Amino acid sequence: MAAKSALKNLFPYNCSLKLPPPPKFPLFFRFTAAKAITPAAADFSTLECSSSSISNSAQKKQKAKNAKVLKQKTSSFVESQVKRRTRSDREIDEDSLLKYYGNDNSCPHVPVLLGEVLDVFASVPLRSFVDCTLGAAGHSSAIIKAHPEMKLFLGLDVDPVAHEIAQARIKGDLYPDCCKFTSDLQVKTFVNNFKNIKSVLHDIDEKLLVDGILMDLGMSSMQVNNAERGFSVLNNGPLDMRMNPQASLKAEDILNSWPDAEVGKVLQEYGEESNWYHIQNKIVKARLHGGLHSTAELVDLIRSSASRTRGGRQGWIKTAIRVFQALRIAVNDELNTLQDSIHACFDSLASGGRLAVISFHSLEDRIVKQTFLDIINCNGGKDEVQDGWSCDPAKVIVDRGEKEAWIRRMISGQIGSILTKRPITPSEKEETLNPRSRSAKLRVIQKG
Ligand SMILES: C[S@@+](CC[C@H](N)C(=O)[O-])C[C@H]1O[C@@H](n2cnc3c(N)ncnc32)[C@H](O)[C@@H]1O
Repeated sequence: MAAKSALKNLFPYNCSLKLPPPPKFPLFFRFTAAKAITPAAADFSTLECSSSSISNSAQKKQKAKNAKVLKQKTSSFVESQVKRRTRSDREIDEDSLLKYYGNDNSCPHVPVLLGEVLDVFASVPLRSFVDCTLGAAGHSSAIIKAHPEMKLFLGLDVDPVAHEIAQARIKGDLYPDCCKFTSDLQVKTFVNNFKNIKSVLHDIDEKLLVDGILMDLGMSSMQVNNAERGFSVLNNGPLDMRMNPQASLKAEDILNSWPDAEVGKVLQEYGEESNWYHIQNKIVKARLHGGLHSTAELVDLIRSSASRTRGGRQGWIKTAIRVFQALRIAVNDELNTLQDSIHACFDSLASGGRLAVISFHSLEDRIVKQTFLDIINCNGGKDEVQDGWSCDPAKVIVDRGEKEAWIRRMISGQIGSILTKRPITPSEKEETLNPRSRSAKLRVIQKG
C-alpha cells in the first residue's frame, strides 16, 4: 500500500495507470523501498499521459504501453533499491583462493570476503586483534600474516572442533620452517561464545581494549559437511544443530517437545517461512508416531508439506533450507545475543579500532545494520530517511574515503563512524568460485 501511494504521489496526472503488483519481498524490504522512492531517483520521464485528442483505441493502446513502461521501470527501480549493497570490485586473488581448496578439495572452510576484510584492517595498526569466530582460522591466519606489528591475538569459537583446527593452523603459521612469525606475538584461543568477549578481555587485562575485531557469523563448512552435526539438508544425520556440543538444547527437542505455537513462531520468525502453519501442524502430528529424529525425516516431512504448485523441487528445497535455518537460529540462540554482542565488541575497541561483521542472512544483517546505527546514535537525528537510513543527513558523508579506496560512503556519529553505509558483498568472481559466499554481507564500524 505504501509503495502504491508513493507512486501515486509521483503521478498526480490523470493517467489512470494500473499499478504493478507490490514486489514479493518481506515487509521490511517493501517499507524501505517505498520510503526510498523519489522523483529524482526514479526516472519515469518517458511516461506519456493520455490526451483528449487521441482516439479511444489509440488511447487504450497508449494506456497499455504506459502501463508496460511503468511496470518495467518500477520493477527495475525497486530491485535496485532493494539490493542496497556495494558489490566488491576488488580483484580476487584466484590463486590464493584456490589454494584453500587444496589438490584433494580438503580445505575445511574457505574464508569469505577475505581480501575485503584485509582491506578493512590494512590501514589500522593492529597491535591487538580478536577473531570472535575462528572457524578454520582462514581470516585469522591471513590477518596475522598481514600485520607483523601484532602483539596480541585472541580467538574465540563455541565449537571445540573448530577451535582445535584453528589452533593447529595458527600454530603452523607461527612456527613454520622459517621463523618469521615466531616473534613476540602472544596467541590465546578460547572455546567460548563471543557474547562473553568483555569477560575474556577482562581476564587478560582489566583495561584491555583492542584495535580490531572480526565476527564472521553463521556456520563453517566443517559444520555443514559433517552430517553428524545435523546442519545439512542434503546429508542424513541426527537432528542436533548445536554449534556448542555441550549445550543442552538440540533441534529434536524443539521439534518433539516445544509447544505448537513456539514451533510455529520459530518457523515464522527465524525461517520467514510462509507455509509455517502447515509445517508446524505436520511436526506436531509426527509426535503421535514417535516424533522426528533424523534430518532425513524432517526433510521428508517438508517435502510432503510443499505445495506441488510452488516451484516443485526448488520450492521444497528452499523451504527445507528456511526450516533448517530457523531451527539452527533457535538452537544456538543466534539472534537474541547478536545485538548485545556487537555492543560488547564495540565497547572493547580502542579509539580508532574497527569492528567488521560478515552476516549471511537478512535477519542477521538487519540486526548488524540497526545496532551500528544505534551505536553512533543515528536514530537520534532528524529522522530524515536517506536511502532507507533513519539519520540526520548532515551525518552522511557521501564521498569516497580519501585514503581508503574500499570506503564508498560513511555515516559519522559522535562516538564512531559506520564505514559501510551499504554492505559490501562478494565480487561475481568470488560468488562463482565459492557459491557459499553468495549471501555474505560485510559491514564495518570504527570507534572514534
Ligand atoms: C563462518 S565460520 C568462521 C570461519 C572463519 N572466519 C574462517 O575463516 O575459517 C563461523 C564460526 O563461528 C562460530 N560461532 C558461531 N556463533 C558463535 C558464537 N556466538 N560465539 C563464538 N563462535 C561462534 C561457529 O562455530 C563457526 O565455527
